[in-house]
Amino acid sequence: MASSAFNRIMVTAALPYANGPVHLGHLAGAYLPADLFSRFQRMKGEDVVFVCGSDEMGVAIMVRARNEGIDPQDLVDRYHPMIEKAFAGFGMSFDHYGRTTSPIHAETSQDFFRTLASKDVFALKTEEQLYDPEAGIFLADRFVVGTCPSCGNENAYGDQCEKCGSTLSPKELINPRSTLSDATPELRETTHFYLPLGDFQGRLDQWISTHPEWKPNVLGQVRSWLNDGLKDRAITRDVPWGVPVPKDVADELGIDAEGKVIYVWFDAPIGYISDTKEWALKQGDPEAWKPYWQADDTRLVHFIGKDNIVFHCLMFPAMLMAHGDYTLPENVPANEFLNIEGEKLSTSRGWAVWLHEYLEDFEPDLLRYALATMLPETKDADFNWSEFQTRVNSELADVLGNFVNRTLTFAARFADGKVPELVHPSAADTAALQELATFPDRIGKAYDSYRNREAVFETMALARLGNKYFNDTEPWHTRKSDPQACANTIHVSLQICASLSVLMEPVLPFSAEKLRSMLRLDGVRASMPAGVQGEIGWDQAGRPLLSPGHELGEPGILFTKIEDDVIEEQKARLGATPEGQEEESPHEPVKDVITYDDFAKLDFRMGTIIEAEEMPKSKKLVKTIVDLGFEKRQILAGIKEHFEPQALIGKRVAVVANLAPRKMMGTESQGMILMAEDREGALFLMNSDGENGSVIR
Ligand code: MF3
Ligand code: ZN
Repeated sequence: MASSAFNRIMVTAALPYANGPVHLGHLAGAYLPADLFSRFQRMKGEDVVFVCGSDEMGVAIMVRARNEGIDPQDLVDRYHPMIEKAFAGFGMSFDHYGRTTSPIHAETSQDFFRTLASKDVFALKTEEQLYDPEAGIFLADRFVVGTCPSCGNENAYGDQCEKCGSTLSPKELINPRSTLSDATPELRETTHFYLPLGDFQGRLDQWISTHPEWKPNVLGQVRSWLNDGLKDRAITRDVPWGVPVPKDVADELGIDAEGKVIYVWFDAPIGYISDTKEWALKQGDPEAWKPYWQADDTRLVHFIGKDNIVFHCLMFPAMLMAHGDYTLPENVPANEFLNIEGEKLSTSRGWAVWLHEYLEDFEPDLLRYALATMLPETKDADFNWSEFQTRVNSELADVLGNFVNRTLTFAARFADGKVPELVHPSAADTAALQELATFPDRIGKAYDSYRNREAVFETMALARLGNKYFNDTEPWHTRKSDPQACANTIHVSLQICASLSVLMEPVLPFSAEKLRSMLRLDGVRASMPAGVQGEIGWDQAGRPLLSPGHELGEPGILFTKIEDDVIEEQKARLGATPEGQEEESPHEPVKDVITYDDFAKLDFRMGTIIEAEEMPKSKKLVKTIVDLGFEKRQILAGIKEHFEPQALIGKRVAVVANLAPRKMMGTESQGMILMAEDREGALFLMNSDGENGSVIR
């Protein structure tokens, strides 16, 4: 296996932005694969440190906080614990989960920045950038909107037009406006630090060419970036949220550090190192992080989603090369995207499965397993609830659960709840045990080379083997005809169950533990950090683990089937706005100020609708007669999609009584009925107790 040249494994999973809860797409992209890998390696007996943490800096956090009218700190304080809890609920076996607002992270990223500056790695560029004179800040990326030069979309962002997809720079926008103050930005000079990626092109190229084994989707993206030629990247920003640019470095270069922060894609990957430092401190050995990052015999693996490839395969490695003390990743097994029910995942449309919500309804293992069979390992993949149900019902329950259950029930009923002796095994018994012995390697090779779908498929193959063996040896017949043969079947089936309880641990950690307690199997090496160092590890799991005479625990149900209506309910939830995540549409801006005289020209009156009917051939119009006390008016209202005409009769309404009459579809309208329209476009009538004809002012 590839791990032979290495003495320890450093695993990282992309730091999620703490600007919302985590969902299925996150799990499928980085976290589940990283956890499967880490748990497997720990069971192998490898020395693993697996870190992650919340990505709390950067403009994405600022924008979200501004939209909610709160401080970025309050935003990340809300989501960080929520994310951490959801991950724990899913059994993510992090050695440490940190956050990039921690003091150790600020210090670590500043030190890193300082080292690169001292080695003269950075370039400095002074440029004119858009500046908001009212808010007093430079408008990075998403803080400026304007008209897209390619498609004319009036609400294109400073970095991208979401309508036509073109990549933009803030200066290209026509009629730019600040999203902070609505002010028209002006151009101001500012100086920034750049990482001259071009200088690293040769070294990166050379290094990448030593990794032909990387996943094709990853190599494809990397090669295309390299072919285009790497460009300088600004690694500082003028925004009020982020890790400050070290003042000493700026001073020395005669740059004003005030208000300058390190770009989030520079500090975030350093977060992996900060997290490892915090882990080391927790261990009581502050230096313990170093070999994991700096020794040549460390296998460093970054688990990420495909949108992070360039940062982990080119930019961060360039930073590590530039620094000089660090080891480079051995692999970056990025996953593609996961669609849901055939549609692209979208948090704003609520087209997502939120992990904290899932956990209210189901066991974590069910999703870990089902998702592992659907991972977007080489191309985009689709998650759908029906397949989830099938995986749970026909694989976990019918194959794995059933095999365990029939084995344990037979042992309880016909072997006195103990492991019977294996005497004069039949050819079938021996064949089953021999095949069992091949599984640790079969499953392990797949995990070790990041082929999780295959690993999980092989795990289920062991349960299938168990079921087939059980069926073929027919213990329900031999029980009477040949009791030793029946005892042998129970013995071998129990050994398969015991092996399963170890080999299913990476993907089904909670159920594996349940199974081990049904078997009373102790001494299994933990897949969680700092767990027991039992002597039964991955490589022992192909051998018989239970000795004859060993007393078993109570048989139980490992997996219950999921009913159709439960699945229907989950499907129906898609597209609804997630809790605590309401994407509020803005209130309509208030119109230009008018004088009192302008207002006094308007004549509003109370009235009662006395007749209402649909306008023939019109989709929108309802024809009403409104009694204004002093006269009756025919008023057309565009409300057919909102109100049943019949239901309007008798309703009190406010009316604009002095609006010039106008014709719609050949029929005259002599006024207008006032309505309140909310942000969702729902309409409400305006009522009052005043008699018909009352003046509203
Ligand atoms: N927060 C980023 C994202 O969600 C990932 C950061 S990964 C790190 O896309 F390497 F920068 F930490
Ligand atoms: Zn456009």
